[in-house]
Amino acid sequence: MTFEEAQASHRQLAAEIQRHDHLYYVEARPVMTDAAYDALYRQLVQLEAAHPSLVTPDSPTQRVAGHPVDGFPPVTHEVPMMSLDNTYSEAELRDFIARLARLLPGEPLDFVIEPKVDGVAVSLLYLDGRLRTGATRGDGVTGDDITANLRTLRSVPLRLRDIPGGLPRRIEVRGEVFMSRSGFDRMNRERDEAGEERFANPRNATAGTLKQLDPRLVAQRPLQALFYSVGAIDPDTLAPATHRDLLAWLGDLGFRTPRPTWHASHPDAVLQALAELDTARRSFDYETDGAVIKLNPLALRARAGATSKAPRWAIAFKYAPEQATTRLRAISIQVGRTGALTPVAELDPVVLSGSRVTRATLHNEEDMRRKDIRVGDRVVIEKAGEIIPAVVRVVTDARDGSETPFPFPRSCPECATPAVRLLDTQAAEQVAWRCPNPDCPAQIRGRLLHWCSRGAMDIEGGGEVLVAQLVRAGLARDPADLYSLTLEPLLTLERMGAKSAANLLAGIQASRTRDLWRLLFGLAILHVGASVAKALARSYPNLDALARAATQDPAGVQSTGVGDVIASTLHRWFRDDRNRRLLERLRSAGLNFASSLHRPAAEPGKWSGKTFVLTGTLPTMTREQATARIEALGGKVTSSVSRKTDFLLAGSDPGSKLEKAQKLGLTILDEAGFLHLADTP
Ligand code: IVH
Repeated sequence: MTFEEAQASHRQLAAEIQRHDHLYYVEARPVMTDAAYDALYRQLVQLEAAHPSLVTPDSPTQRVAGHPVDGFPPVTHEVPMMSLDNTYSEAELRDFIARLARLLPGEPLDFVIEPKVDGVAVSLLYLDGRLRTGATRGDGVTGDDITANLRTLRSVPLRLRDIPGGLPRRIEVRGEVFMSRSGFDRMNRERDEAGEERFANPRNATAGTLKQLDPRLVAQRPLQALFYSVGAIDPDTLAPATHRDLLAWLGDLGFRTPRPTWHASHPDAVLQALAELDTARRSFDYETDGAVIKLNPLALRARAGATSKAPRWAIAFKYAPEQATTRLRAISIQVGRTGALTPVAELDPVVLSGSRVTRATLHNEEDMRRKDIRVGDRVVIEKAGEIIPAVVRVVTDARDGSETPFPFPRSCPECATPAVRLLDTQAAEQVAWRCPNPDCPAQIRGRLLHWCSRGAMDIEGGGEVLVAQLVRAGLARDPADLYSLTLEPLLTLERMGAKSAANLLAGIQASRTRDLWRLLFGLAILHVGASVAKALARSYPNLDALARAATQDPAGVQSTGVGDVIASTLHRWFRDDRNRRLLERLRSAGLNFASSLHRPAAEPGKWSGKTFVLTGTLPTMTREQATARIEALGGKVTSSVSRKTDFLLAGSDPGSKLEKAQKLGLTILDEAGFLHLADTP
């Protein structure tokens, strides 16, 4: 074969494979058997082996061309990735439409209704039709560059298809990465077999997968993607004028789009579409947590605008969680990492939102009593936060008298220590019974498992089975023990092969550099959840500074916004010798104690405590600029004039605020006076 022939045959094979990928992953109508596809693919691999110069970055063989990385570089979104407001009722939905009608008087409104896919939002940037960058949403302004991971998804086109109007030179396409229910079930079965921690739901599995630093691992997970919007785009592009046309246009470019969709103008028709989608979504192979209702004409969207968080032209409608009825066979007590005794309902297996459920939480003794839950009852269960199902109520009509009340234990079922009851600080009532014994084996396991969990130190391989084995074998009792683990003793554990052991050690190694908030959260301090941990990590540069403040100045800790209960919990925790020793051992093990979230508090400005109200149009400054100036000097801007207002900054056409301020005798400034005041020290 001459080089020219090889080149021609490469082009043809690559195009053929791309066509079949598209048919399979985008249009979901494969026309070729898997075996025939594999044969084509092998031909391409062989051809490229013989002629390495033919390998281009967008060749189908190059999806997994990336290498493991240490971390993901940040990507700033040119157009922020916003989120959506939620509605839960027909009335709220009608309000949304009425509000838009008021914002856009005289305009006929029409809407597109789409499934809301329960996945992870991503953005793809294409330059000259080639995938350049793929990123997560992050905080909406800055996300992670996960290009190598996204390239492995066959529903992410590496090249855009040619379209009649010509390709935009630059376009950013946005959508959702998700995992099918069947793919998710298969993956969890495999994880069970490998003794690894299960994922709670497809969304967590998707998020966990996209965070992987090795794209080869991502390539093995059944991720899919669909796309529904455009961020930044080259202004010369002949882009569609409505959302409906935009979806079709994205389809022409080679993207999978949400399907089915509905189109409606009248509020009744929108509600009808929502009802139809609710039926249809039950047979989708992926989870939806609602519908998205979007204004169709794109020009009207621009006029409707957005709040700081979400657009005014779209809204999410959340369907009520699915429920199921089953029999409560028994009640067991789980001992958590903080010693809390949680009653768990053991159920006759039942399918709920597509997965098989055998256990549900009963929250606490108080809640069980309120619901009058008895062993043998028929109960209604529901997936609330979608993660752990909960028992909602008893079907009392189904009782036949054989049901028995459950005496809540007064001692720990694991170590027999008498239980104590603490006050729930939020509800100011006594709620959870706790095992007060810090050496309780269940707590030891719970704390270790929490340390390893994805939300905390994220140690791959540190699942329930492993933690139980480590504790039983005496290899670990607390987090610091993990960092002195070596290969040999691990290999003595049941079902622990050399590969899993090495992976676990690599996971432990990688956790040494995690950010301070993860470590703080991982320590399982009572009341210190992820958001409190983040708040603390923002206020203190490192763990030592926090420890010093917690032991010497609890009032100072409280002033970071965490509240007195947490401040005194931290005070006690950091004064406890056991905990201090644990921290010293973590330090010696080389764990990172520094916080990347730390932002030094602003110096108290000269306008701190002063309140401003703005009115009218200023000659040179926008409202935002004036507000920023005031806030930079420590002042506050509010919207209405009252006795508490210190200054009114007035421009032209000031309206009633000026009159009111004059009546109250407030200081009124024009722009020049304002700037003068701002500039004088
Ligand atoms: S439109 C300006 N359409 O839901 C926001 N979002 O709760 C535009 N999502 O961040 C989003 N399916 O990750 C849109 N058909 C759909 C969606 C969808 C899922 C996600 C998306 C968004 C989140 C907001």
